[in-house]
Formats: sequence, C-alpha cells, structure tokens
Amino acid sequence: MVRERIEELRRQLERHNYKYYVENNPEISDFEFDALMRELQDLEQAHPEFADPNSPSVRVGSDLSADFATVRHRYPMLSLGNTYSLDELHEFIARIEREVGTTDFVCELKFDGTAISLTYEHGRLLRAVTRGDGIEGDDVTANVRTVRSVPLRLQGEGWPDYFEIRGEILMPYASFDRLNAEREANGEQLFANPRNAAAGTLKQQASAVVARRGLDCTLYQLAGDNLPFTSHWESLLKAREWGFKVSEHMRICHNVTEIDEFINHWDEARRQLPFPTDGVVIKVNDFAVRRQLGFTAKAPKWAVAYKFKAEQALTRLESVSFQVGRTGAITPVANLEPVLLAGTTVRRATLHNAEQMALLDIRPGDMVYVEKGGEIIPKITGVDLSQRPADSRPFEYISVCPECGTPLVRYEGEAKHYCPNQSGCRPQIIGRIIHFIRRKALDIEGLGEETVELLYDNSLVRNVADLYDLRAEQLAPLPRLGEKSADNIIRSIERSKQVPFHRVLFGLGIRFVGETTAKYLAEHFRSLDAVMQASREELVEADEVGERIADAIVEYFADGTNLEIIRRLRAAGLQFEASERPRESEALAGKRIVVSGRFSRSRDEMKELIERHGGKNLAAVSGSVDFIVAGAEMGPAKLRKAEKLGIRILSEEEFMAMIEGHGEEGSSGSDSGTGAPEPPAGTAPEKEGPEASVGRTAEAGAPEARQGELF
Ligand code: IVH
Repeated sequence: MVRERIEELRRQLERHNYKYYVENNPEISDFEFDALMRELQDLEQAHPEFADPNSPSVRVGSDLSADFATVRHRYPMLSLGNTYSLDELHEFIARIEREVGTTDFVCELKFDGTAISLTYEHGRLLRAVTRGDGIEGDDVTANVRTVRSVPLRLQGEGWPDYFEIRGEILMPYASFDRLNAEREANGEQLFANPRNAAAGTLKQQASAVVARRGLDCTLYQLAGDNLPFTSHWESLLKAREWGFKVSEHMRICHNVTEIDEFINHWDEARRQLPFPTDGVVIKVNDFAVRRQLGFTAKAPKWAVAYKFKAEQALTRLESVSFQVGRTGAITPVANLEPVLLAGTTVRRATLHNAEQMALLDIRPGDMVYVEKGGEIIPKITGVDLSQRPADSRPFEYISVCPECGTPLVRYEGEAKHYCPNQSGCRPQIIGRIIHFIRRKALDIEGLGEETVELLYDNSLVRNVADLYDLRAEQLAPLPRLGEKSADNIIRSIERSKQVPFHRVLFGLGIRFVGETTAKYLAEHFRSLDAVMQASREELVEADEVGERIADAIVEYFADGTNLEIIRRLRAAGLQFEASERPRESEALAGKRIVVSGRFSRSRDEMKELIERHGGKNLAAVSGSVDFIVAGAEMGPAKLRKAEKLGIRILSEEEFMAMIEGHGEEGSSGSDSGTGAPEPPAGTAPEKEGPEASVGRTAEAGAPEARQGELF
C-alpha cells in the first residue's frame, strides 16, 4: 500500500515538475504541489526501505557535503569552433557544401551557462558530470538532481537503455538577480554574470544550496553507441518527448539566407529571453553527413558557433561621480540615463580611471556606448561624437578626494588616483570594516554595509578593533536595530573570535593579500607574530608571495595605527595563530603532488594525507610537480603530459607505502577544506571601488581556472 502510494506520488510530482519547469504550463497550484511533496517526504522518511535516489523529493537537496569524484567521459566533450564574423560563417558553410553537397543545418541558440553531460540508464538519471577538461569532469549528480527541469525518470518510450544527453546548466536572469541581491545584502562577493553563477553553483558542496538557486537545464545533444536516429532534429524531438527541456528556438535551415535570418532575428530577440545566450550554434542535421565530415583534434567539423557581439546600448551620460575604495583608490563612475542592457536596467558604469576617460574624451551630456563584458559593472566603450552638445568642454578630473578633501596622489605604475588619508577618510574606514566582517573574513553576521555606516556616523566605530568594544545597549537605540538585532550582532562579534587565523589575516585588508595569499601566509608562518617579524626576503619564501605583496605586508606592519589595532584585536582574543593539527610526519616534506583519478579513499582524504605528511597539493601537472598519485581512470591527457615531463607516477598503494609508519594515515575522514589550491590570488591587486565586489569569486572562477590550468 505504502509503496504504491509512494510510487503514485512520485509519478504525479514528476509530471507536475515537468509541466511547470519544462513546459511552463503548471496544472496545479504551488500549494497543492507542496502538499503532495510533503506527503511523499513524510512517507519516505517513515519508510526508508523505499528510498530512491531519483525520487522527486531529492530536488530539495541535502546539506551533506559533496565530494566530487572525477569521472571519465565515455564520449569526450568537445568544444566548438567559433566566429564573430558572418563572412567566416558563410565560408564554413560553403566548405561543408563543397565537401558533401547541399545539406540541411539546424540553428540553435548558444546558451551561456555551463556544460553538463547527463547519463541515463534504463530511463533513470544515473550521473551528471561537468565538462571538466573534456576528457574527465566532476560528478555533480547530487546537485543536478535538484534542478527541476532535469528529468530523473524518463517519460514515453523508445529511449536507449544507456545514453548520454548534453546541454547547458543555466541561471535565468531572475534567479541571478535574486542571488546577487541576497549576496549583496549579506556582504558577500557578487557573481560577475549568470554563467559564473551557474558554474559556481554547480560546484557548491551542499545540494540544498543548489536547490534554492533556481538553475535551469536545456539539452542539445545526444551521445550513445547505437542511437536510433538519423538526424539531430529527430533526436531532439524525441528527447523532448522523453521529458527533456529542449529549446523551442531551433530551426532547420536549408541555406545561408535562412541561417542569416535566424541569426539576425535572435541577435535582437534574445534581449527578451529570460536567460542568457551568447550566440547561435549551426550544426549539420544529418548524422550520416556528420560522419562524413568528421572531427578536428578539438571540435567537430560539422558545427560552429557564431558569437554575438557584446550587447551595447547607447545612452546619455548624466554626470560623473567618484567612489573611494577601502585602499583609497578613486574610481570614476558614470551616472547614466537608465537603459536596458542584456536583461537588466543599467544606471551606472565604470569609467576606470582618469587616463581612460581622457582617452575616450568622455564628457557629461555625451551619448555613450555601454557594454557588458564578463563583469557585473558595465563599461563605457565609446562616445557618439555626432551627438555631442555644442557647448561641451573637456572633462577635468578631480584633484582632491571627493569625500575628505585631501589632495589625491598617484603611485608609480598605477593608473588610479589615491586618497592618502587612510585614517580620516570615511569610505576608506567603512570599506575596511566591511571587508573585515565579510563572510570569508571574520563573518560577522547581522552587520551589513548600512549598519556599519550607522555605527560610524554615530561615532561607535572608527576601526575594526572598535567592534570588539561594542555593547548591546549602545546598538539597540540606533534606528532599524533594536534589542534583538543588537544582541545578535554582539553574539556574532563574539563568535568571530574563533575564526581561524588565516581569515583574520585576510580580514586585516593588507593590500594584495587576498584570501588565498592569506592562507599560504598562515600556513607558512603559522602566527601573526611570525608574519610581522618576517623580512621582505623571508616573506617571499611563502608560496604565492611575490615582492609586491611582501612590500605591502612590510608597509602594513610598519604603520603605528595598524599596530595599535592589532594590539587591541589580540587583547580581544582573536585567533592570531594557526591552529591546524601539527603535521604527522615529514615523509612528504616539500613535495609538490598532484592527485588524479579515483581512489579507495575520497580525493579530499588523499589530499589531507598529503598535507598531514608535509606535502603540498597542486591542481595542475607542470614541471614543478614532484610526483602524481594516479588512481583509476586518470585522465589520459594528464597522463601524457606527466610522461612528457618525466614526472614520476605512483599508484595509491605506492603512495601509502611512502607514508606508512609515519603516523596514523587514513584514519581521518574529516573534510580538510584544503582542496586543490586556487589559482594564485594576490597576483592582481584586490579590486575595489565600484568593482569592489566584481572580481571573480573563487567559487565561480575555480571551474574555469581548472580547465585552463590543466590543458
Ligand atoms: S553543441 C560537439 N549546442 O558551447 C559540440 N553547444 O563553445 C557540442 N553550448 O561546450 C556542443 N549552447 O557548452 C552546442 N545549442 C548548443 C549550445 C552549446 C551552448 C556550449 C557548450 C559547448 C560550448 C562550445
């Protein structure tokens, strides 16, 4: 009985999911849907014997940490050749037709998300793997199960027992805007664009977080051994019948004219779509013709991507204002007549610096071109001189700080002007405090930008050390706060005293010392005292610390005001020492190691073992790697590279033998959080000004960096 009911509920919920997320045509209200879901969840909880990893209840995700295994793609995930030129596209079509005669093409939108490969076995979702390097990717099945438009069980009939279907995980603009608004309110770094947000979300550890972020998935390609189709078009129509979300915006084109029509239409019409696209993909329709054309080393010869030029809009520059960042850097900001661009209304754009403004000869009143690049803040790329008002004059850049009146300075090699009044300039002080309380630093909840401003304007804080002298009765009477928020803030400040040393070091806001550099410094020096006492020469011995960073650190600790703040933070009880477990042995001391493939332990465990025995994990195979620990299904490209560089390759057993007898290896299953090192931060200045929150987040940047680094 129970079993039947569970099955029935699963069937119903799947159908409604499909109606809602794939067809956009719901039959029941959210309320009714939730009631069915709750019934199913209750039954499943009471009857764990009927558990099913593909039950629609998994769509809400779990809080368990995912440890992404690397999976080898059965069919490599190739990329596409691309072009921005219609002439080149026409040449591509002509070349094909010269080789195979007239043939049909399917034109599709190029979705701007992150590629995914879904494997189905007996009609059930078996696995979801990211593109990775095209040869192997990360198993993100738990996360993808939460994406409502991905069918967990197929509908209809005729699907092969085993096949893969590929497509794009997308973040619709509405989800993206909501996510960034939330992150802004929490003082977290914003995602630069929906693509980064989708990729970053997919690599989230907790699938419950993924479930809440509103991802979508559109499929556009099948792969399998004996697919029962003769054309791409036919395969996609079938996929749609099986319950996959396949784009409605596709067309069979018989000639170049029709292809051009499709492109011209969508170059404009895409602005109305609720999700991001960055071009059109043109594919030969007939599978036999595809086989005839074949592949190059990297991409099929039967398909190409035509990329749209970045969207531009023309609007009036109303005025220029100047933002002062936490390091005093001045950024000119364009205030624009609001204009719609790539799905959002743009009111402001960065003008970068004085030089850039002079180069473009930008003047208030001008009609300017605004573009969205890969970053959140749009930029001005040009001026329409034909519309310049007759009485316009060249713009004169400011010479004093707009906030505190201090004359601005320029440092050698830097394009920006700076306000040198670090200790007396309001936005710099507030900016430093906001940086300090960020989630990735001291993570003081309940204190957002507005509250920090409020505290500053009420003379309650002048620097980060003042936070630790705050009392609830000082906060409660302030507007918008009250007793409850005041208590929460004080509790959260108290909790921050337990935040590990490397985050405290990051929170201090030393120039160029980003999150990753702070981690390396903490690992190398183990205490703030050691960092403070280190000479420039000693500092550069730490990984990822170059001379510029070393100079910034020395300069920071030479400043009496900073030393006084540090003295007070120390007295308040913040963590000034790394508290990680001491190493178990020096068996791998100084060794730089890459782990690749699948092992009998999780990859995190392998990495933790390496660290516990003094080794260092590297993400990419390069000349500086001492050896590779290779598990099952290590990527062939990696293997080739290792062989070419003559790097030693160890099996898991050989590796274990190396550390055997040196401590209690393998005994800890804890998440060390020390996964592959991120690409070096701090090699570029920490951004600030209106771009303060722009830089790629580690979360979003990581997947791409990995692809680039490995091959
Ligand atoms: S077909 C063998 N179709 O673009 C090529 N790709 O630049 C299979 N993409 O890695 C890809 N929309 O992530 C195809 N309609 C579409 C696409 C699409 C977006 C992405 C995909 C691919 C990249 C290539």
